[in-house]
Amino acid sequence: MTEKSELKHIAIIMDGNGRWATKRGLPRSLGHKKGAEVVKEITKAAAEKGIKFLTLYAFSTENWQRSEEEVSYLMTLLRQYLKSDLQELKENKVRIRFIGERYMLDQDIQQLMTDLERQTASYDKLTVCIALSYGSRHEIVAAAKKIATQVKNGDISPEDIDINLFSDMLYTKDIPDPDLLIRTSGEQRLSNYLLWQLAYSELAFTDVLWPDFSAQELQRLIDNYQTRERRYGKV
Ligand code: FPP
Repeated sequence: MTEKSELKHIAIIMDGNGRWATKRGLPRSLGHKKGAEVVKEITKAAAEKGIKFLTLYAFSTENWQRSEEEVSYLMTLLRQYLKSDLQELKENKVRIRFIGERYMLDQDIQQLMTDLERQTASYDKLTVCIALSYGSRHEIVAAAKKIATQVKNGDISPEDIDINLFSDMLYTKDIPDPDLLIRTSGEQRLSNYLLWQLAYSELAFTDVLWPDFSAQELQRLIDNYQTRERRYGKV
């Protein structure tokens, strides 16, 4: 028996902003600015297509190592995004979630994140999950530490540790695993993104750079996904 290829959750690695700008002789910051506009367009398209979860890689733990100027610009964009685009999503009853090492972000950004999460917690049409200061290995190590502490305190025994218990210790606790991962810009890597959660996801790579990504390209990748047969390791 094969599983039906339902499409509930799409995860995206939005790559290629810098190259898009450099190709046009523009500063990298303008690539990120255009990239943020595309985030808005794609979120709208996902809602229209009835997707339930959209997880976007907005900033990785490794991105902190970029130049101070670039990090600072990305944080400015992020503040704007939290204060305008995400507020608009909130009005449209989209649930907003964040995953990542949020303690590394500025206090005001953390506060905006917490407020949005709280204010949209009861919405269930579309959940937009933003990975911010996110790194999958950090997430997995943090989960292992939580479990070790529970064992040490005698709350659970080593025999209690199974896939469900481990999944419950991750930031994505109540979010189903992605059905489809999309990476733009022609790179074919996971870059420390959702390593546990992507175990059985279908992968789609497109050469389109993120600032050129569109609802049409999203539909093309979805159509291709629908032709795939997911077997989850079974025959
Ligand atoms: C990759 O382009 C993109 C990022 C560093 C993160 C994604 C950021 C955005 C889409 C803009 C801001 C988003 C929000 C939600 C405010 P790159 O710089 O790695 O491109 P390159 O590989 O061509 O250099």
